[in-house]
Amino acid sequence: MENRSLVTIAEHSREKIMYLIEMAKEFEKHTNRKLLNGKVIATLFFEPSTRTRLSFETAANRLGARVIGFTDPKATSSSKGETLKDTIMMVSNYADAIVMRHYLEGAARYASEVSPVPILNAGDGANQHPSQTMLDLYSIYKTQGTLDNLNIYLVGDLKYGRTVHSLLMAMRHFNPTFHFIAPEELKMPEVYKLYCEKHGIRYVEHTDFNEDTIAGADILYMTRVQRERFTDLMEYERVKDMYLLKLNMLGKAKDNMKILHPLPRVNEIEYSIDNDPHAYYFEQAHNGLFARQALICDALGITLDQVREDKTIID
Ligand code: CP
Repeated sequence: MENRSLVTIAEHSREKIMYLIEMAKEFEKHTNRKLLNGKVIATLFFEPSTRTRLSFETAANRLGARVIGFTDPKATSSSKGETLKDTIMMVSNYADAIVMRHYLEGAARYASEVSPVPILNAGDGANQHPSQTMLDLYSIYKTQGTLDNLNIYLVGDLKYGRTVHSLLMAMRHFNPTFHFIAPEELKMPEVYKLYCEKHGIRYVEHTDFNEDTIAGADILYMTRVQRERFTDLMEYERVKDMYLLKLNMLGKAKDNMKILHPLPRVNEIEYSIDNDPHAYYFEQAHNGLFARQALICDALGITLDQVREDKTIID
């Protein structure tokens, strides 16, 4: 049987990404439907989340599915020693698809190998966050009118930030130029730089972060320093406030430039930027609803044609 899990965006072709963007567009036009009536979606969150869980659950609810799951693994039998395999096997008895966030890198891959129902990776450690990437791609496409030939500046925690790792891999189909702006301690890991070299992706590394270094950006992708991934909290304290985007740094920004951030924001973007036309992070999070509706449907084998011909629209 075909495995319809979403473990990493790297497995998706350009055509598949564009197909999912088209599906997200359909859901943005008509969000409330009964397309998933009778389906049950499980959300298993072994790590905290606001946007990913709530947008996945809203996506399922607005398509008529019911949602089960947990946000606190301590309140489940995993706290009694139940293995991830057994948890997945149990939940697959109850649900048609499982959305899972886990602190271990590779947990989503493992779950997809043992699960009889599709697994949607909602973030595995510092590894991948493919549903975030689909909403990032949708946001980039909506704001730039294309995914091709863009200058994408990734700023902040490029070491532990799983969203930037996923985005970099997905963009390989679209001839991007990346600028990696990070302190020495949080540089883009070698494995992703090697990935760029293997796939002919241009990149430039910077440690400076100022008006001039970001002037060429089409997309300025800010990230939070991931406190929860540090083994040395002194190191976290040293780097946590290094890159704060201030309103007076946008003077040379291109007109089309949009500021994205997967959120939550801690101290990376001044609040005064929120009303600036370059700010797009709240709309980006909203786009997550439509992107995740597309991902859930795709995992359940519902095609773009079926979505276009859907007669269950209720708004
Ligand atoms: N972007 C993101 O993953 O946010 P949450 O941690 O709130 O889900």
